[in-house]
Amino acid sequence: MTLLITFEGPEGAGKSTQLARLASRLVGAGVPHVVTREPGGTELGARVREVLLDPDLAIDPLPEFLLYSASRAQLVQEVIRPALARGEVVVCDRYADSSRAYQGAGRGLDAELLETVTREATAGLTPDLTVLLDLDPAMGLARAASRGQPDRLERADLAFHTRVRAGFLALAAREPGRFLTLDATRDPDALERDIWAVVGERLGRAVAPSP
Ligand code: TYD
Repeated sequence: MTLLITFEGPEGAGKSTQLARLASRLVGAGVPHVVTREPGGTELGARVREVLLDPDLAIDPLPEFLLYSASRAQLVQEVIRPALARGEVVVCDRYADSSRAYQGAGRGLDAELLETVTREATAGLTPDLTVLLDLDPAMGLARAASRGQPDRLERADLAFHTRVRAGFLALAAREPGRFLTLDATRDPDALERDIWAVVGERLGRAVAPSP
């Protein structure tokens, strides 16, 4: 059973909450799994994360993308591929779609460049399922701000975050089979049930004997 599930969405959409709820469901169902996140998930990733989120640091779009990609490449090699090889489910808080939305749609980096580097960084590994928690960016930024000091990305203006949201929705429209797009303002219990229904179905299919 190899299943890579990613969670995506703009700031303050409640990804972490839903990710934790999915993880408890997996524990309850006795499904071996690994939960990780981007940027981070490895020693290198944790250090790169500090750099990327530092509100006092100016980072141009290209180095920004390359730093996210560096964290991603290490995570894929060190954590994600080994876990999938052990037959475990991997749940990742953000993955390459965040670069497509934030650095592509948001910062305006060339799509072809993003795909070329991303293919290398991920060794071609794409998610089986991507849960997109969609939210109005003004609402998301307000939610995120209530949690404390804004990080470097949260400080970007509303126009940027509006492009990011549109970027995510465009990705989901292009690959409806991979994306489960949900309205993040809905009741968290209902969202949890919807996510579990789809993951359960994918798991069932992944463990079912081939015909
Ligand atoms: P984090 O605190 O994990 O934010 P969130 O809780 O919203 O996931 O910070 C990650 C930030 O990095 C977030 O603002 C999104 C951004 N990001 C990118 O811009 N590109 C990427 O490729 C990734 C993975 C994240």
